[in-house]
This record gives sequence, C-alpha cells and structure tokens, in this order.
Amino acid sequence: MRVAVFSTKTYDQCFLEHANKKFGHQLAFFETRLTPDTTPLAKGYPAICAFVNDELDRGVLEKLAEGGTKLIALRSAGFNHVNLPAAADLGLRVARVPAYSPAAVAEHTVALLLSLNRKVYRAYNRVREGNFSLEGLLGFDLEGKTVGVIGTGKIGATFARIMLGFRCRVLAFDPYPSQECVALGVRYMDLDTLLSHSDIVSLHCPLTSQTHHLINQESLKKVKRGVMLINTGRGALIDTRAVVEALKSGILGYLALDVYEEEEELFFRDLSGQVIQDDIFARLQTFPNVIMTGHQAFFTGEALTKIAETTLGNITAFETGQGTFYEVPAEVGV
Ligand code: NAI
Repeated sequence: MRVAVFSTKTYDQCFLEHANKKFGHQLAFFETRLTPDTTPLAKGYPAICAFVNDELDRGVLEKLAEGGTKLIALRSAGFNHVNLPAAADLGLRVARVPAYSPAAVAEHTVALLLSLNRKVYRAYNRVREGNFSLEGLLGFDLEGKTVGVIGTGKIGATFARIMLGFRCRVLAFDPYPSQECVALGVRYMDLDTLLSHSDIVSLHCPLTSQTHHLINQESLKKVKRGVMLINTGRGALIDTRAVVEALKSGILGYLALDVYEEEEELFFRDLSGQVIQDDIFARLQTFPNVIMTGHQAFFTGEALTKIAETTLGNITAFETGQGTFYEVPAEVGV
C-alpha cells in the first residue's frame, strides 16, 4: 500500500525500512509534521502514518479524506491527538500500536526519578568542571518511600513492579484495578487518598477529557508537601501553570517531565540556536529541582522495532483483511 509517513526522523525511516522488507509497502517519508498546511502532501495516499504531535483535527481529517486517504496508522499507543468522531464521520479507520514496550517507558520513568532524587544532572556538570562539592546534592533513600501510581495499565503496572523491587510501598489509582498489581502488593485507593500519602506520584493514565489537568491547583492542595511528581504520560495531564506555582511555594519538591502540554512547538527538533518563545517552558528550566526530557521515554531499539512492525502490520491487515488490525474505535474519542 502507498503510505505517506509524517514527522519522519532518520531513526523512524531506518526502523520502518528494515521492518518493511517483510511487508513490502511503498513508504514516502516526509520530515514535516502533519498540519493543516502540510496535509496536501498526503493527497493520493490511501494510508498515512502519523506520530504523537501530528495534528489530526476535523479540518485535517476532512482534507485527508478528500485526498483519498482511508487509513490513519498511528506509530504510537496514545491517540488523544486524533478527533475520532470526525474520523468515523468521514469513514477513516484509525489504527495504533497498543503495546510496544511498557518497559521502555517505565524504565525511563525510573531514570528520571533517580536522576532527580540524586541530582545526577547537577553532579555530572559539577564534576566535569572540577567542582566536587556535595552542597545541594542531598538525596533521599528510595527504599521505604511511598509511590503513588496513577493508571496501572501496561506501563503503570511495569513501573509499580520496579518500584516494589526498590522495596517501596506502592499505592495506585485506576478505575479498573489490575489483579496482577493487587497480587504483587499494590494497594488501590481513591485519588485524593493516594495524593495525600505519596512521597512520589507518577502519571501513567491516558489523556482524555476526564484526565485533562488531573494535576491542577485543587489536586495540588491534597499532596504531601515536598512531593516528587513525574509525568511520562501526556503533557496535558498536568496544568503546567499550577505546577510552576507549586514549585515556587515548595508544595512540589521535585518535578520530572518527559511530556509537556505545548510540546508540539518544541519537541523532536533542534532548537538550540533559537530563542524559546514559550515562557512557561522557559520558567520550568530555571528550577534546580526540575528535570525534563523531550518525549524520549519510548525511545529504545526494542520499542522502535515493535512500533515499526505493528504499524506496518496494521496497514497490511487493513489492506488484505488478514492479520491483526489494532483499531482505535470511535467511541473512545474525547
Ligand atoms: P494502558 O491502556 O495499558 O493503561 C492505561 C491505564 O490508565 C488503564 O489501566 C486505565 O484503566 C487507566 N486509566 C484510565 N483513565 C484513568 C483515570 N481517570 N485515572 C487513573 N487511571 C486511568 O496504557 P499504557 O500502554 O500503559 O500507556 C499509558 C499512557 O502512557 C498512554 O496513554 C500514553 O499517553 C503514555 N505513553 C507515553 C510514552 C512516552 O514516550 N512518554 C510512550 C507510550 C505511552
């Protein structure tokens, strides 16, 4: 099938081309994001392949449908960026990669947690400059601390298991508790109780209308003073302005982000020679107790291999009716 691949980086092309030896699709790679301005590039392609910051609102979907597109193959698990009711109205089918490597994201969450606690990012720079002072690098023992996991699906459950290995107490909030987690010793409770008991809170639920700004001015009143907040889920799970205020007042003691509310304008490109126009993002960079990565939690060789194979498998299943088609049904849309 002819496929227009948007937001292509060299690594996407490399993993997709390698996996495509088995599938034989005709892949056209576009570096640009899919936006209202770039949608004409997709004209005549029955399938488009999109990533997390491609825009798939009603206007873009209408133009895609007009141009002959029938399938949106997402190279992601999250689908919050797709207007699913609009896709259904237009007869566009949407597929995703439901699970590629929960370990990749869970392990990156742990990397952020440990770096932030032990201030590895500050120590690294100091030692390179011959500064061996320990002032300001004080951490805490993770063993015995209480970790609150919001969303215990594939990634949250993997993260919970790792935290139990550190001999932490693990609390969880999820409308659909995992029996596997309960068996491991995870204790489920309501969100407010979790927030008030946790030393570390980590977000692993999808972004939906119910979870948008789950962490906000009100919920931040419920947390333990000095708590560590980690978000490797989606940027808008957090009201970033409220979080900046909570950092200033000391309510939040630590913040680790792999995702950011307005990341579409920033992430996945080199802006090191430019002035960042996003003042909230710039403010976050000024805190000594904030660590950020640019949506890289998924970024392992194992995950990219699985993403490429599942995405191309979805396209084949759509085209031939054979094999597994991981469709995102319209009714889960926001
Ligand atoms: P999953 O579908 O296996 O698990 C999501 C869990 O969240 C489910 O157990 C669900 O019941 C729960 N949930 C739904 N609404 C909730 C709510 N209001 N409060 C608490 N829990 C709720 O998804 P998976 O694979 O574990 O991924 C989770 C999220 O991680 C994705 O939706 C995506 O946004 C994000 N992600 C981030 C990546 C990164 O590179 N930073 C990579 C992959 C996923």
